[in-house]
Amino acid sequence: METFPAFLLIFFLLTGELVCGGTAQLVHCNTADREVLLDFKMGLEDSENRLSSWHGSNCCHWWGIACDNVTGAVITINLPNLNLGWQIKPSLTKLKSLTYLDLSSNTFNGSIPDFFSFLENLQYLNLSHAGFSGAIPPNLGNLSSLQFLDVSSSSLNVDNFEWLTALVSLKYLSMNFVDLSKVGIGWVVALNKLPFLVELHLAGCRLSNFIYSLPSFNFSSLAVLDLGCHFAYKCNNFYSKLPNWLQNVSSLVSVDISHSNLRGRIPLGFSELPNLKSLDLHGNENLSASCSQLFHGSWKKIEILDFSSTKLHGRLPTSFGNMTSLFFIDLSWNGIKGEIPNSLGHLKNLTHLYLDHNLLQGPIPASIGNLKHLAYLGLSLNKLNGTLPESLGLLSELYYLDVSVNELTGVISEAHFLMLSKLKYLLLSTNSLIFNISSNWVPPFQILQLDIGSCHLGPSFPIWLRSQKEIYALHLSNCSISDPIPNWFWGISGSIRLLDVSSNHLEGHLPNPLNLSPIAEVVDLSNNHFEGTIPLLDVSALELSNNQFSGPVPKNIGQNRLIFLSLSGNQLTGAIPTSIGSNLELLDLSRNNLTGSIPSSIGNCVELEVLDLRNNNLSGGIPRAMGELRGLSTLHLGKNRLSGEIPSSFQHFPYLETLDFANNMLTGTIPPWIGEAFPSLRILSLRSNKFFGEIPLAILNLCSLQILDLAENQLNGSIPATFGGLKAMNHLQNVSNSLFYDSYKEYTYQQYIYVIKNGLELQYTKTLALLTSIDISGNNLYGEIPKEITKLVGLEVLNLSRNHISGQIPENISELRQLLSLDLASNRLSGPIPQSMSSLTFLGSLNVSNNNLSGRIPFQGQMTTFSSSSFAGNSGLCGDPLALKCSDDDSINGRSNDGSHGEGKDEADEGNVFIDKWFYLTVGLGFAVGLLLPYLIFSIKRSWGGVYFAFVEMIVFRLSSSKN
Ligand SMILES: *[C@@H]1O[C@H](CO)[C@@H](O)[C@H](O)[C@H]1NC(C)=O
Ligand SMILES: *[C@@H]1O[C@H](CO)[C@@H](O)[C@H](O)[C@H]1NC(C)=O
Ligand SMILES: *[C@@H]1O[C@H](CO)[C@@H](O)[C@H](O)[C@H]1NC(C)=O
Ligand SMILES: *[C@@H]1O[C@H](CO)[C@@H](O)[C@H](O)[C@H]1NC(C)=O
Repeated sequence: METFPAFLLIFFLLTGELVCGGTAQLVHCNTADREVLLDFKMGLEDSENRLSSWHGSNCCHWWGIACDNVTGAVITINLPNLNLGWQIKPSLTKLKSLTYLDLSSNTFNGSIPDFFSFLENLQYLNLSHAGFSGAIPPNLGNLSSLQFLDVSSSSLNVDNFEWLTALVSLKYLSMNFVDLSKVGIGWVVALNKLPFLVELHLAGCRLSNFIYSLPSFNFSSLAVLDLGCHFAYKCNNFYSKLPNWLQNVSSLVSVDISHSNLRGRIPLGFSELPNLKSLDLHGNENLSASCSQLFHGSWKKIEILDFSSTKLHGRLPTSFGNMTSLFFIDLSWNGIKGEIPNSLGHLKNLTHLYLDHNLLQGPIPASIGNLKHLAYLGLSLNKLNGTLPESLGLLSELYYLDVSVNELTGVISEAHFLMLSKLKYLLLSTNSLIFNISSNWVPPFQILQLDIGSCHLGPSFPIWLRSQKEIYALHLSNCSISDPIPNWFWGISGSIRLLDVSSNHLEGHLPNPLNLSPIAEVVDLSNNHFEGTIPLLDVSALELSNNQFSGPVPKNIGQNRLIFLSLSGNQLTGAIPTSIGSNLELLDLSRNNLTGSIPSSIGNCVELEVLDLRNNNLSGGIPRAMGELRGLSTLHLGKNRLSGEIPSSFQHFPYLETLDFANNMLTGTIPPWIGEAFPSLRILSLRSNKFFGEIPLAILNLCSLQILDLAENQLNGSIPATFGGLKAMNHLQNVSNSLFYDSYKEYTYQQYIYVIKNGLELQYTKTLALLTSIDISGNNLYGEIPKEITKLVGLEVLNLSRNHISGQIPENISELRQLLSLDLASNRLSGPIPQSMSSLTFLGSLNVSNNNLSGRIPFQGQMTTFSSSSFAGNSGLCGDPLALKCSDDDSINGRSNDGSHGEGKDEADEGNVFIDKWFYLTVGLGFAVGLLLPYLIFSIKRSWGGVYFAFVEMIVFRLSSSKN
């Protein structure tokens, strides 16, 4: 969250004198008290010598000490934040006149001494973040004069609130982050006995249960109620509705119950609280309200409203513009519909307005130009359309403007930025905006983050950037720029930490190294026409794929911080350097012309999660050392010239999901340990190699396996009956659940896997979540098709063609009711085609040609969609669609028509499902991106800075541009 002025409401001074070091006092200190202080000092560890003034006879002059101006007794010890540690001597309790004790933010240890309870005149006690741990001593309840108590600290806990009820004078209580999980439901009852309580801070205390209704309540003074969760850490978890009594506490000024798992409706009574200035309920994802009702109320003095990430719905009413005291409002991440009311322009004091990620549509009202104090404007991730109002250019205080991911159109001109001299963040990406700005424009701002991805800027590189000397994040992805990057750019780029110019037509050679910030994180130059050698850069993510870079992979690339390196789709030659960065999590060198063998030193990259070397000319064996890459989730070595066997070191890959050795010259048997070695495997492709021997029974243990491709090898033996036990395939596929395939990386990662459909090699990119397939075609397998295979009810593609399989097609093959493609061609199958196959309503492709099948083709239902070529080369088959008529035409015809009657109806119903299914398969990714995108962008906004988010963000924008 952006910071906004701390909302300080009540500050009461308890003692007459506020003590600053050495405030001269005429009175001379009490000798006995002086001795106590000296003893107190002896107990302390004052490593920074902060108490150097503690000598001499008049202790009233010592740092942090104040005395009663008549008796000379010490009444105040005020030593916060001095890095004091060690122990507190019990003699302190001899200071009978002490009223004020502040030892907060120091480094004591052990528990809070229980002798504090003898300081019976104490009115102010602040032990917050003082280093104490353990249970707060209940005998603090003896301090009946106490008006202020702050014991905030995450290392403290309280099991029972009974003792607090004795602190009858308490006005201010803060126990932020103290573990109160054991206090139970009694906390409200106990606090209800403190009639003078004005401020209550119990943020992040793991409280559970609010009492929904109180028989009577005494909170007649309560102004500040803070039960929120400031750092999303040990939040309160109420699992309940907002209690009714709360909306009757008319003294309330500020309420924060954010991130606390509240449910139900926001009581409308809140809007009538006469003094309420601040209400923060954000992050309660099950808290709902209709905007038209909620904002219809009076909200007389409201200044701060935060309802982000709740479940607000409905439309913003015109009366929204009545809340003229507002300066901060956050309604982002809700389900608010309709247009933004023009009355917005009445909220003249507004400095922060966030409406991101709702369902808002229509135009951005031009009245927004009246909000003269507006500094933060977030409207991203809605469906706003029309043009960007020129009146935005009048917001001279604007610092942050985000309208990205909407449906805005039209032209952006210099007028839009007329008075925006304070603008630092400009986010316009993923709209259809066109920049029409003269080449000699000098913007009034110095931007920090410029995100105008997918805005039309080109064809020339924006010259006005030349004046921008502070940019740290620049996104110019997919902006139709087709120049080389001008030389002056490398003069202003020295502060850039995030550079994304991907998906343009940028060309030419790059300086090496690029002039970026020494702490640059992400560089994405992918999908352009850059040439020359790979620039060496010390960044965290370097994405240079799909350019025309040539020469070798630089020797020491990624020695330092690099965790993401993609050089895929270039013209790189030579061998993979032996000294490749050991921090890499993703290494993609695919689709180049690399030669030589894979260096053993790759085993040093133990952080690798994705390794992609496919489509090169790599030769030699798979190095044993690769077995060290225990964290791998994706391994592609396909389309090379690798030889030898799968090394026995390949036995411990707990996270491996994709293993692709396809199209090499690997040999040997498929090792029997395969089932144990890859417990998470979803995709196994050993296609087109020289593997021989039987398919191991242990394949059954790959219980996440979705795609098994062993085609085009020299495997023999029979098809293991254990196939039927493949867990990921033996339940129906639930399209919506399987959409969130794996981590974000898998989405970014080009997944090519080849399945055979209609005899064509199709490239299934990124829709794998949805696909289940077995392809063992082109081997020497014999024996019958095991009946058990029909247990794989979720199977979508089955290819057993070009083997020596005999016997009959299992009668109950129709139990594979999600089959999209079935290929049994070129085997020795005999007997009839089962009648039931006509009920396979998703089946889009069928090939049973070149077998010994016989009898009448059950030409009804789905079967009528296939032509004669699906059945050719079976001398015994007859009837439609073949030209050959069956000899007993009349009788059989009659029977089968009867039998199919019921199914025919089913088929009509499922016709649409079929279309949906393919629809999902093809748009699966777009859909997933639609869901993922906002989430990821959100994460970035809220915690900008870490490389992780920078990295994710890059990906998000790539995804969003690839969507277009
Ligand atoms: C002593 O302090 C009290 C309250 O703090 C104040 O009212 C009084 O005037 C002071 N007396 C002298 C002699 O300074
Ligand atoms: C609130 O706004 C509505 C419509 O703009 C207006 O009719 C009404 O008088 C306003 N109410 C108050 C209390 O100002
Ligand atoms: C707007 O802010 C100013 C300055 O803080 C304040 O004086 C004024 O009362 C505010 N307006 C409203 C309607 O609250
Ligand atoms: C904006 O969207 C609304 C509803 O979707 C549509 O009626 C309107 O014509 C659109 N306006 C523009 C300028 O595209």
